[in-house]
Amino acid sequence: IVNARIGTEVDPRTRQIAEIVVKHLHAAVKEIGPTHEEWLAAIRFLTDTGHMCTDWRQEFILLSDVLGISMLVDAINHRRPGAATENTILGPFFVEGVPFSPSGANICLDGKGEPLVVQAEVADIEGNPVEGAVVDVWQTNDDGFYDVQQKGLQPDGNLRGKFQSDAQGRFWFRTVKPRDYPIPDDGPVGKLLAKLGRHPNRAAHIHFIIQAPGYETVITHVFAPDCPYLAEDAVFGVKESLIGRFDKVEDPARADSFGLSGPFWLAAPRFVLQRS
Ligand code: DHB
Ligand code: FE
Repeated sequence: IVNARIGTEVDPRTRQIAEIVVKHLHAAVKEIGPTHEEWLAAIRFLTDTGHMCTDWRQEFILLSDVLGISMLVDAINHRRPGAATENTILGPFFVEGVPFSPSGANICLDGKGEPLVVQAEVADIEGNPVEGAVVDVWQTNDDGFYDVQQKGLQPDGNLRGKFQSDAQGRFWFRTVKPRDYPIPDDGPVGKLLAKLGRHPNRAAHIHFIIQAPGYETVITHVFAPDCPYLAEDAVFGVKESLIGRFDKVEDPARADSFGLSGPFWLAAPRFVLQRS
C-alpha cells in the first residue's frame, strides 16, 4: 500500500504496533482519568527523559528496565530449554573490544573488596565441554561503580575481562565479591522510583556474555546468593537459576594454589549453551 497523500510506503508492522499501543493507551487514560496538569506532567517527564540521554546515558533504556519491559522483551525472544543457561538484562555498562586476558588473570585493578575466584565451565545441553567460547565479564568495583562511570577515578578496564574456554570448557579468573549498587538515579527515572517508594538498587551480580560458534549467545549474570536485594532487584533481572553458590575458603593451601594469601570466596558457575 502507498500513502496517497505523501507518497511514502506504508509499513504494515508499524501500523499494527501503533494500533495496539493506541488501544491500550486509551484504555489506560480512561482508567486513570488524568487532569490536564497530570497530562502535562507526563509530557514533561518524557521530555526530561529524552534530555537526559547522551552517548553514555540512555535514560529511556533505564525507564524500560525499571518498568520490567526489557526483561519481558528478552523473555519473549529467548525461550530456553530447561538445561540451558537463562538470559538476563544486558544493562548499559557493557564495553566492546576489551582485550583477552589469560585464564587465571586478576581483573580487579583497584585492590578494593573481598577476593573471589571464579572457576567457570561452558558446556552444551548434552554435557559436552564447549572449547573456545569467548566470555566477556564485567562488574562494579567495591564502591558500586563501573569503571566507565568513574573515568580517571578507577583504572581503565577495572573489573572487566575477556576469556576463552579451554578443551575442557573451563576458564578461571580472580576478582572481588560483587556488591549491590544503585542504577543511575539522578535523572527523571530516579525521581519516578522515589515517588513510587521504590529503591534503585540492583542485586549484587557479575555480568557474563558467552559466545561460541554454532551456539545461541547467552547474556547473563551470576548473582551473589547472600544479597538482600535478590527479591527486589530494581530492574527485575533476578532468575532463580542465576543465583550462584559462593563458598568461603579458609584453607591457606587452597589460597596458595590460586596465588592468594588469605581467605577468599569461590564460585564455580556452569554455563550451558543451546545450539543456534
Ligand atoms: C544494569 C544497570 C542499569 O542501570 C540498568 O538499567 C540495568 C542493568 C547493570 O549494570 O546491571
Ligand atoms: Fe550490573
